[in-house]
Amino acid sequence: MVTVMKGKIAIITGASQGIGREIALVLASEGVRCGLFARNLQKLEAVASDIMAAGGPEAICCQVDVSKAEAADAAVKQFIEKAGGIDFLVNNAGCTRDNLLLRMKNDDWDEVIATDLSGVFYITRAALRPMLRARGGRIVTITSVVGEMGNAGQSNYAAAKAGIIGFTKSVAREVGSRSITVNAVAPGYIDTEMTSKLTDEVKKAFVETVPLARMGTAADVAGTVKFLVSDAAAYITGQVIGVNGGMYM
Ligand SMILES: NC(=O)c1ccc[n+]([C@@H]2O[C@H](COP(=O)([O-])OP(=O)(O)OC[C@H]3O[C@@H](n4cnc5c(N)ncnc54)[C@H](O)[C@@H]3O)[C@@H](O)[C@H]2O)c1
Repeated sequence: MVTVMKGKIAIITGASQGIGREIALVLASEGVRCGLFARNLQKLEAVASDIMAAGGPEAICCQVDVSKAEAADAAVKQFIEKAGGIDFLVNNAGCTRDNLLLRMKNDDWDEVIATDLSGVFYITRAALRPMLRARGGRIVTITSVVGEMGNAGQSNYAAAKAGIIGFTKSVAREVGSRSITVNAVAPGYIDTEMTSKLTDEVKKAFVETVPLARMGTAADVAGTVKFLVSDAAAYITGQVIGVNGGMYM
């Protein structure tokens, strides 16, 4: 099947670094016009420059905190008006505030749920309306292996990421008849700034649980997202695709 992505329009949240940046670079290399969403405009502009330097189309940078309902809604609407539509939404923005449950502060809980779960709701709701009108679209949300397995010290993050899975399956059922697919990608341990805080000892212990015996890369995740937004994935919806080296099967 030939997949033509050139000229399609995508929003990628959390595009300023790590997995989101890589997703933007990979989609842009196929000619996708990207809306780069995150809080740090300077970093987004650097990603937009990298896209142009690699021969990709001009990207639009949107400074927004996805955890703020009104701001998230307005940012999506303004982007769609400027870009002229939306074909793909990649919900990638996320954060962690780890602690064992008994030590977890209300703020640690609230911030992770607001960013990793409510942010997905705000951005998706705003992007869905034009997709419904266009009778087509692709929504991919980055969850985590932790949402499937649980992880000591990450009850807030695991709850948000598990919530994304239920959200994905429910929305997939609501909009399937309009040819909109809704899927989640669940990475395992990926080498980015988020995991750079872990000590070498902890990283080594993680890798020992991974059959493919290495940490994943942002490119491993971006390749899966590229597949899910492509025509080749037209009959895949409501799925959670693990990109975890086999650590959870
Ligand atoms: N790195 C991993 O091992 C791993 C594993 C599983 C899932 N994930 C998920 O992949 C996604 C990307 O993670 P990463 O490793 O690239 O992390 P990262 O910390 O390098 O990047 C996170 C991105 O989200 C943005 N972001 C955070 N809070 C935001 C907010 N309130 N509003 C707007 N943007 C916000 C950040 O600015 C950044 O661009 C996250 O959803 C994360 O939970 C990562």
